[in-house]
Amino acid sequence: MLISRHLIEPADFTLEEIDELCELAEQMIIDPIAYSDICHGKILATLFFEPSTRTRLSFEAAMLRLGGSVLGFSDSSASSTTKGESLADTIRTVSSYTDIIAMRNPKEGAALLASRYSTVPIINAGDGGHHHPTQTLTDLVTIRALKGCFEGHTIGLCGDLKFGRTVHSLAKAMSRYPNNKFILISPKELQIPEYITNQVFKRAGLEYVCEVHLEDVIDQLDILYMTRVQKERFFNEQDYLRLRDSYILDKEKMRYAKDTMIVLHPLPRVNEISPEVDADHRAAYFKQVKYGMFARMALIAKMTGSI
Ligand code: NCD
Repeated sequence: MLISRHLIEPADFTLEEIDELCELAEQMIIDPIAYSDICHGKILATLFFEPSTRTRLSFEAAMLRLGGSVLGFSDSSASSTTKGESLADTIRTVSSYTDIIAMRNPKEGAALLASRYSTVPIINAGDGGHHHPTQTLTDLVTIRALKGCFEGHTIGLCGDLKFGRTVHSLAKAMSRYPNNKFILISPKELQIPEYITNQVFKRAGLEYVCEVHLEDVIDQLDILYMTRVQKERFFNEQDYLRLRDSYILDKEKMRYAKDTMIVLHPLPRVNEISPEVDADHRAAYFKQVKYGMFARMALIAKMTGSI
């Protein structure tokens, strides 16, 4: 039962609950009209203290497609935060108007804090460089639809593995399934945090290797998850400029990849995937965008007890 629970990080849901959500998302893709009124009378708040296009709009589209309503802000300068209001008070207030809250905040741990003050379910839509569980649900729905299962994959995580919250959440989620192997492709400065290698991979007994060059390992991958270098989390511009174009996936590199490999990216992309790759049958990042809305529809429906 997901009703009245919070989603702060991927491990908050059991594997059975994730299967249920993926199955519901698949049914919603097949017959969206059947679900078009199930949230009638319910309100979702989207509180975005940090910029977003896909996550916020897909949450809003999801609630509207379920027949519910949406309110919120897309910029903290439009909220009482600028007057000095604490997150706790904002959440106490908004939870007395709405049935469920999706929030994004630049501070790690903000969603967990919010869940302590909210009287309605909180969905973490990204807390700093920490977690992004609904992007992970999107990734899981996509992997299940395109690869059939969550087990036995060689997964390449490529780019900014230090600050990229989507890779932290995906690594945590996929390490719960057997026989997955991770190839962590990043510059030395942007390697995945030790808490992921020690507390996630090692604890799960999973194989992982760190690599610097994508072209050396691309032929081994079943899933290639590209990410952008997270400009907003760098302390100095020089480092960002030096590292931002570390990886550019192009047609030439794709020649060495398996015909069955899929390329995922949470988006927005900057330069890390050349537009010439978009037409390749293995490029799945725009399908992933579409699956994201259905994943969030399934999540809202379950967490509000509408189904
Ligand atoms: C990601 C995020 O916000 O972490 N975007 C998203 O939600 N799809 C990835 C990113 O910003 O690089």
